[in-house]
Amino acid sequence: MADTKAKIIYTELLKEDLVIIRLVPINGMPKFRTGQWLTIGLPVAAENKIVKRAYSIASHAENRDYFEFVIRWVRKPLPGRVTTELFYLSVGDEVLLGDPTGEDLIIEKKLPNGQPDNRRVVCVGGGTGLAPFIAFAHHFHDTNDKRQLVILHGASYVDELSYKRLLTDFENESLDKGPDKWNFKYRAAISRPKEFYNRSWNGHVGRVESFFKENEQGASPLDKLVGEKVTPENTRLYICGYQGTIDGVMDYVADRGFVNRDNPHKDGTFEVKYESYG
Ligand SMILES: Cc1cc2nc3c(=O)[nH]c(=O)nc-3n(C[C@H](O)[C@H](O)[C@H](O)COP(=O)(O)OP(=O)(O)OC[C@H]3O[C@@H](n4cnc5c(N)ncnc54)[C@H](O)[C@@H]3O)c2cc1C
Ligand SMILES: NC(=O)c1ccc[n+]([C@@H]2O[C@H](COP(=O)([O-])OP(=O)(O)OC[C@H]3O[C@@H](n4cnc5c(N)ncnc54)[C@H](OP(=O)(O)O)[C@@H]3O)[C@@H](O)[C@H]2O)c1
Repeated sequence: MADTKAKIIYTELLKEDLVIIRLVPINGMPKFRTGQWLTIGLPVAAENKIVKRAYSIASHAENRDYFEFVIRWVRKPLPGRVTTELFYLSVGDEVLLGDPTGEDLIIEKKLPNGQPDNRRVVCVGGGTGLAPFIAFAHHFHDTNDKRQLVILHGASYVDELSYKRLLTDFENESLDKGPDKWNFKYRAAISRPKEFYNRSWNGHVGRVESFFKENEQGASPLDKLVGEKVTPENTRLYICGYQGTIDGVMDYVADRGFVNRDNPHKDGTFEVKYESYG
């Protein structure tokens, strides 16, 4: 289908180069699946054309009111074409939207034999790669999915923990209601803990993949968080971020038998899904 116009209905500048933005297509919300992405197109004067870029949808398929995104203004080595234009826009301005697409982070609900897949779902988001997992959290919550959902977010600075309040509220709700009703955990990792700006941080430090790093006893911080050794039999992994984040997680979990689509099991299955920043 051709691109459609969409109006900006909300922007929240988290810092000078990080924004949450909501868009409403003027012809109504198309159907999409939680975990997909779409293109945002904007005219770039210097190129005399519309330039389009892919953005992960941070809202879930049950939300028929708007699309939400979390977008970084790319500044180095040169200002990014689309993000520079986007950061000048305000509520009421229009952009062009492509159709929702992408199968890489679609949530599996069944095993290959058709039985329900009750394994925990662990999501690893590097920076704005958290976006699809915000959609996952809302989707699991709204559809009353009983599986355990764990979201791990990695950022350089504390003010880049873009959805900390929402995810902390979801975890508190899980503690209040009990894991049989809503089973959710959230942890963040700050990768530049020595920088002055991060001086108040007392959570996990290092890049987000270090949640999978085993100590001398063979237990990782993630194992401790969920209270058991994470294996392909009890856990599925979803990763979105830099290729380095994906490779880093795979390096830690490969010995436990986790594989992704690049190196599936003999029957073609894999329990790690990923989308790379590319
Ligand atoms: C599936 C998918 C989902 C995505 N989801 C998100 C998301 O949720 N949030 C998000 O923020 N981003 C996301 N992205 C990234 C996004 O698509 C864009 O790549 C990003 O916003 C940069 O676009 P831009 O047009 O601003 O930068 P571009 O103009 O494309 O520039 C890209 C890079 O190249 C450099 N560059 C440009 N011109 C030159 C030059 N002449 N010489 C040297 N270097 C140059 C720029 O400095 C910049 O580092 C996603 C990408 C994919 C593939
Ligand atoms: N699905 C996608 O394809 C997708 C989604 C979202 C964003 N993006 C694009 O990706 C780019 C950067 O995203 P961002 O600004 O959100 O990230 P970011 O905030 O710069 O980094 C997020 C985390 O990733 C770490 N990191 C940086 N380089 C890494 C590497 N090579 N390997 C492993 N970890 C690394 C950082 O650690 P340090 O503190 O050590 O640097 C930080 O902890 C932007 O251009 C954005 O538009 C793509």
